[in-house]
Amino acid sequence: MKTADLSVPSSVKELIIKSGIVELYPPQEEAIKAGALEGKNLVLASPTASGKTLVAELCALRHVLEENGKVVYLTPLRALANEKFDEFKKYTALAKSDGKRVRIGMSTGDFDSTDPWLERYDIIVTTNEKSDSLLRHRAKWIDEISLVIADEVHLLNDAERGPTLEVVLARLMQVNPGIQILALSATINNVDEIAEWLKAEHVTTEWRPVTLKEGVLLNDEIQYKDGDARRIEKETRDPSLNLALATIKSGGQTLVFASTRKNAVTLAKKFAGEIEAALSKPAKRSLGHDAERILAMGERTRISESLAEVVRRGAAFHHAGLGGGHRRIIEDSFRQGKIKVLTATPTLAFGVNLPARTVIVQDYRRYEEGYGYYPISVLEYKQMAGRAGRPKYDKYGEAILVAKTADEADYLLESYILARPERIWSRLAVERIMRSHVLATIAADFAHTEQGLYEFFGKTFYAHQYDTEAIKGLIAKILKYLYDEEMIEVFGEDVNATRFGKRVSELYIDPVSAVIIRNSLKRENACLTDLSLLHMIAHTPDMGPVLRPYSHEEDAIAVFAEEHKPEFITDVPAEWEDAIAYGEFLGEVKTAMTSQAWIEEMTEDQIIEKFRVQPGDLYRTIENAKWLLHATRELGMLYGNRQFLPLARELEERVGKGVKKELLPLVKLEGVGRVRGRVMYNAGYKTIEGLKHAPIQNLTNLPLIGPKLAKKIKEQIGGFVKKDTWEKLEKGEEWKQKALTEY
Ligand SMILES: Nc1ncnc2c1ncn2[C@@H]1O[C@H](COP(=O)(O)OP(=O)(O)OP(=O)(O)O)[C@@H](O)[C@H]1O
Ligand SMILES: [Mg+2]
Repeated sequence: MKTADLSVPSSVKELIIKSGIVELYPPQEEAIKAGALEGKNLVLASPTASGKTLVAELCALRHVLEENGKVVYLTPLRALANEKFDEFKKYTALAKSDGKRVRIGMSTGDFDSTDPWLERYDIIVTTNEKSDSLLRHRAKWIDEISLVIADEVHLLNDAERGPTLEVVLARLMQVNPGIQILALSATINNVDEIAEWLKAEHVTTEWRPVTLKEGVLLNDEIQYKDGDARRIEKETRDPSLNLALATIKSGGQTLVFASTRKNAVTLAKKFAGEIEAALSKPAKRSLGHDAERILAMGERTRISESLAEVVRRGAAFHHAGLGGGHRRIIEDSFRQGKIKVLTATPTLAFGVNLPARTVIVQDYRRYEEGYGYYPISVLEYKQMAGRAGRPKYDKYGEAILVAKTADEADYLLESYILARPERIWSRLAVERIMRSHVLATIAADFAHTEQGLYEFFGKTFYAHQYDTEAIKGLIAKILKYLYDEEMIEVFGEDVNATRFGKRVSELYIDPVSAVIIRNSLKRENACLTDLSLLHMIAHTPDMGPVLRPYSHEEDAIAVFAEEHKPEFITDVPAEWEDAIAYGEFLGEVKTAMTSQAWIEEMTEDQIIEKFRVQPGDLYRTIENAKWLLHATRELGMLYGNRQFLPLARELEERVGKGVKKELLPLVKLEGVGRVRGRVMYNAGYKTIEGLKHAPIQNLTNLPLIGPKLAKKIKEQIGGFVKKDTWEKLEKGEEWKQKALTEY
């Protein structure tokens, strides 16, 4: 089928043809024949790179241009949301029936907000979590959605993301029974079951536009699925590295999947050391620019420094601990062919189009706290493998698992390469997860009786697979908890959320965390300090696993806890009565001490060394602390606690920036973080007023503050820079940039 023959407005066809797509891929044709453009619900299950997005694009544009509808595109990952947003942007050239242009929006951030500005957009790209949160706020425009696209719907099987996705779909179906659902999936065994749940047609194909060779690397030989084998030149002692070097020689790029953030960073460093020699001079110069951009963006951190360092040498790492801006630079630079090897955690496993001729799956095991190592699913392996050989970039691709022994090589061939992906199971019926969804269902008025709740959860994939009875007991137990903790009220048949319950649901925190916060808020606290709040949030389940003390630290932490005992605002377990609870408590104290070190302006390196935490854990702790302090402040407003509120507000800001109180006014300026703020403060620029009066040359003379930033600061505070002063500064900057890239 030709693009020109599609039954969509000709302006759409022209744009698609202009982007290079003149003929549809077979899976696309099948999807259209199955009624995707006639408003039918559809599950399209088709291999990686088989062009599922185009079907979504066509459907979306039909809704917007012909039906005056509104579209939501759900993705499981931010990197994927970025990519889809960029791809959809070309359609803003189209005009709707009212003459206005098609508008594309993206929303992936801050969970406690309704983002009313999204109302203006026709197509909204978002993450599953963000849309769950928007639904909890009952954002008004949600009722106008006429098409929902669920990308990577097989992630229903993911313990964390899956439940959110199925609840979001169930809610959208309830809000708007006429909504069209288009679900895009990898090829899985039980597509029909998902389709039945969504009352959808399904199309399954095995077609892939670009050949993907899968194999196992053992020492210097790759054994492929089809019986072929290939020797890799042994340039170093590391087989993966040799494979990446061979790929570079053939003009390609490599994407390496690592099991943890730490491994991703270590691998990138290792690769960078070897590939540098293979880079041309202009390539190095250009990478130098990227490295400088990384350093100039936001505050310098240990992560941004090591990222810049590896980028300079042609490698990079990508994980959830990186800032959005940094991730963008890396993704773009890899797409432009500059970065030769990119190491990533599963943040890049799903959906993205990258020029990776070779994908290396470095480790097929994952580690989970309290669970140990376990092998990843076939489905996840196939997704990672599918990042290789994307039609836009390569004519072929290969995906390679790394084995250490011949026995392991056999196992990998059998269990991954030749294996079929698993069935998809709903992961909803877990108390921790259901607690929050039950409350949200009542609070956002998706149900207001017990019966209504059963009916709502009766629409989930879980109920479809296991029937509603299976989940009733759990719901009843959760209802009792929510009632006892005053998050819901019951009048006869009616179940309503209290103000507390509603706020908890919107804040997107676990009701158990909210109870801990509320109970602490209600106490009379004679001795309320930073530590009080930092420990209290570390005690909530939303903080995630606590930072466990090493045995050599235990005594010191126990002594610290004893000395600060009056400051704790949750019950402190007695060591001799409950050793397990006490051990957990010490972990909470260590977590709090780590956050405290952060806001006392200890450097990241010092924190990592002192507490022996992984950088990833440090960032997670800081991120979660920020979010939980926000929740604390909001709940504090509800309870009107005068003692808590100012402290919670101040700590939220301080944790966000990692600064002492005195730096708060300075770090509000864009481009100024904890390090630059401290430089300015120590140089005597302690207030905005002081900065206003400072001659710009004095600012540029400070370490880490170049002319660009100095001008940006002046612009923000209303200072004026003369044109000729600026020109002089700019010349200086150009010279500096040149010097930086040449040496
Ligand atoms: N008919 C076509 N002709 C040429 N190229 C196409 C066609 N359809 C899609 N493409 C290109 O194929 C690439 C892969 O498409 P897409 O990202 O939609 O794959 P996918 O099926 O969603 O894969 P995944 O399961 O990995 O998400 C894109 O770069 C897209 O532009
Ligand atoms: Mg896709």
